[in-house]
Amino acid sequence: MDWVQNMAAMEALLFAAGDPLSCERIASILDISEDDVFLLAEQLKRRYALDPASGLTVRVLDDRVSLVTDPKYRETVATFFGDVRGQKLSEAAYETLAVIAYNAPVTRAEIETVRGVNSDSVVSRLIDRGLVQEAGTLDLPGRPALLDVTSQFLLEFGLSSANELPPVDLMMYDSVQQLMHPDLAVARDMVPVRPPVIAIDGPSGAGKSTAAKRLARRLGIGFLDTGAMYRALGYKALQLGISPSDEVAVEEMLKNTNMSIEFSSGLQKTIVDGEDTEPFIRTTEVARAASDISALPSVRSYCVRLQRELGDKQPFVLDGRDIGTYVFPNAPYKFFLTASTEVRAKRRLQDLQRLGKEATLESVMDEIQKRDAQDSGRALAPAKRASDAMLIDTSDMSEEEVVDIMVDVIRHKERYPYGGAVR
Ligand code: DC
Repeated sequence: MDWVQNMAAMEALLFAAGDPLSCERIASILDISEDDVFLLAEQLKRRYALDPASGLTVRVLDDRVSLVTDPKYRETVATFFGDVRGQKLSEAAYETLAVIAYNAPVTRAEIETVRGVNSDSVVSRLIDRGLVQEAGTLDLPGRPALLDVTSQFLLEFGLSSANELPPVDLMMYDSVQQLMHPDLAVARDMVPVRPPVIAIDGPSGAGKSTAAKRLARRLGIGFLDTGAMYRALGYKALQLGISPSDEVAVEEMLKNTNMSIEFSSGLQKTIVDGEDTEPFIRTTEVARAASDISALPSVRSYCVRLQRELGDKQPFVLDGRDIGTYVFPNAPYKFFLTASTEVRAKRRLQDLQRLGKEATLESVMDEIQKRDAQDSGRALAPAKRASDAMLIDTSDMSEEEVVDIMVDVIRHKERYPYGGAVR
């Protein structure tokens, strides 16, 4: 084939394909070099530009060539398609796009894991909008589709390759923040800020740990369960036959205690003297011991030091009793979750039943009231709401609603760090 025929063949190929074709693929089909493909694409583009009767052009992006409509006729084409491309993206759509762009190829289930909510309808809208495409399937039962961003996404976001996306240090949070900035030129120059500590305090059963876990997943940052530390120490005291309220004996115990926190697949391991205590610390006895031991100054300083060390190194959502008042009093985002005693008791009862433990609603309510009084009445770092913490009563709210409110508050504060009307 000669040069003119090759150009015509490439035009036919691009027209028939509809989607962008890699230079490598075109080169192999036409039996020419990839450099020649680039030259042909350039010449074809020039030919269209010189022909006033043509409504087409050629786009080369990320080593891929496509035949597209001339932007001059955008409105005409938009009228035909019903202008989906011009529609403003929702925050959920930006967030989902960021998850796909940084992790591609990803499955819908993986997107859901990162965002913490079902994202199927958002993904469908992004596919309709031409920003996301299916890019194969995973070799697993059900053959889940793998999703990737499209050349259209790169074009709209001013990138020539997904590799040009701003770097992320393991954190989806920064990228979401950048992609959500209304001015993309500004967004790309933004220095990634280190996500701060997010404090969630409140009494037991208020839904703190569930909310904290989901929020952490939505923001792509870690979750630290500080109650587990007090529980682990209470458990060790019980194992040693030490009363968790015996200050002298517990102080002695701490001298020979080595606690560290590890994370495996997002799950926290509270390791004491080399042993993961998680399987043993969710009983009523250990909860009681944790409440007693957490009132001791030596125990509080031991745990708080570890929490601060962790929070200084890495962004976390921390759930506890004194995170916003004492551990990280300067945390920019603070929430205090609460719920009626009855609702909290019902939730705790369900947790215990799930673990195969027997209890009655009355006994759990009684236990909760006692623990509340002890945790909030103690002299040192009592469980109480920080004056700048947002109070959320979760009694009549679903887990998802609680997290949605938190995300809204965080986003609002990010945009209006010095205040501003909340919608
Ligand atoms: O959240 P939880 O039920 O796992 O907490 C166990 C005990 O630890 C609880 O009685 C209060 C105490 N605690 C605390 O004093 N400070 C924290 N930051 C977390 C928990």
